[in-house]
Amino acid sequence: MKPFSRELFGSRFGVLMALAGSAIGLGNLWRFPYLTAQNGGAAFILIYIVLLLLVSIPTMITEYLIGRRSRTSIILTPNRLGHPKMKFIGIFAIISAICIMGFYNVVGGWTIKYLTSSIMLQFGSDTADYAGQFSEYISSPYMPLIHTFIFTGLIAFISFKGVKKGIEKASKIITPTLFIATVLIAIRAITLPGAYEGLKYLLVPDFSKVSIDTIQNALGQGFFTLGLGAGTILIYGSYTKSDENITNSSISTAALDLFFAIVAGIAIIPAIFAISYANGSTPTLDAGPQLVFVTLPSVFASMPFGDIVAILFFFSLALAALTSAMSIFESITAFIIDVTEKSRDKAVYICYLICLIPATFCSLSQGVMSDVRILGLNIFDLLDMLSANVFMTLASLFLLIFAGWILKKEDIIDELSNHGKATTPMWILNTVYILIKYVAPLGVTAIFTYWLLF
Ligand code: TRP
Repeated sequence: MKPFSRELFGSRFGVLMALAGSAIGLGNLWRFPYLTAQNGGAAFILIYIVLLLLVSIPTMITEYLIGRRSRTSIILTPNRLGHPKMKFIGIFAIISAICIMGFYNVVGGWTIKYLTSSIMLQFGSDTADYAGQFSEYISSPYMPLIHTFIFTGLIAFISFKGVKKGIEKASKIITPTLFIATVLIAIRAITLPGAYEGLKYLLVPDFSKVSIDTIQNALGQGFFTLGLGAGTILIYGSYTKSDENITNSSISTAALDLFFAIVAGIAIIPAIFAISYANGSTPTLDAGPQLVFVTLPSVFASMPFGDIVAILFFFSLALAALTSAMSIFESITAFIIDVTEKSRDKAVYICYLICLIPATFCSLSQGVMSDVRILGLNIFDLLDMLSANVFMTLASLFLLIFAGWILKKEDIIDELSNHGKATTPMWILNTVYILIKYVAPLGVTAIFTYWLLF
């Protein structure tokens, strides 16, 4: 077996930006605003925070600490920690990473197309048929594929440069830029006349909209946005120095991610309300792709300085997708390096090809292959559903069981306390341990069972 040494992230700021860059992605920009608006505003945010503290953050800490302790990728982790029989966890996680790369890279490709269209000032008319343009684009066979190949190629390009000069450097530039761009859009949105109604819709709690589905959505969002169950936190953990405080950086990442998600909500929902108010129409809050690629271009077309806002928005969307996809790509690349002992360059080529296979099917499933349905879903939706509901959930659950029930408590506390050197009080470490051992696995099991049954 290879020695434990590997290239590490250079600075604390770099680690935080890489973790935040992985967390902040399409999940924040197109899922969180919509989920919050539809599930009772601040009521949803409150439930989300409770689940974050009880389940999602403990699960993130688990992946992180196992990664740092084993200093390898998810498939070899159990081996290195002395439990080779648990290897199957890595298989679940890598399958979920490959499924996510399938649809995520396709959407990444769409963001490239919309960024170039916005730069060419193509979103200027508020009467254009944006819905028609979008469906015509995504269903065409070649262009979206080319954009997907370019998007994944950009990730591969960063990945060639390695952990410190590639991932860390890119994250240190991209994550703060993304943040500034989104804050600027949010300021534009709330200064539009009529934006207040949207802000109220987004932020005032409405508990009448809360149901068990709300809880399931909140937990699913927490897992997706923190990027759990695909080996990405684990691999970043394996690149983290041993004096980094795992509990603190997990909480900081989750807090930055939530803050960014709320700012994204403020950038999007009030703008939609303001423009409908100006046109005398009812605001439409579509989910996912429709929201960002159809509703927003028409909103931008109607607002003063809309061209600039459109460029800023699609620039942010592309950057957010890039740093997130980069972490998933790294989980697969590191897995290839650790298992085959090939050089990083070769592993990156192989990973690029592995990612393009599901991505090609996902892209074509929007057009020429839309008739291919499995479990009633097209390939894009199938990979989304399988990764979110099955593979990420099960990989996370098994990792929690591995940490809480198979590894020794002393080892977990030893890793969380940086071998006794960290200043975190013992009661916090014990609480984290109880969450990892009992609360988080029970929470994940409950939601998984609910999903299976209903
Ligand atoms: N968190 C990212 C987002 O919100 C996506 C992401 C990155 C992810 N790494 C992951 C999702 C690992 C699942 C698993 O868009």
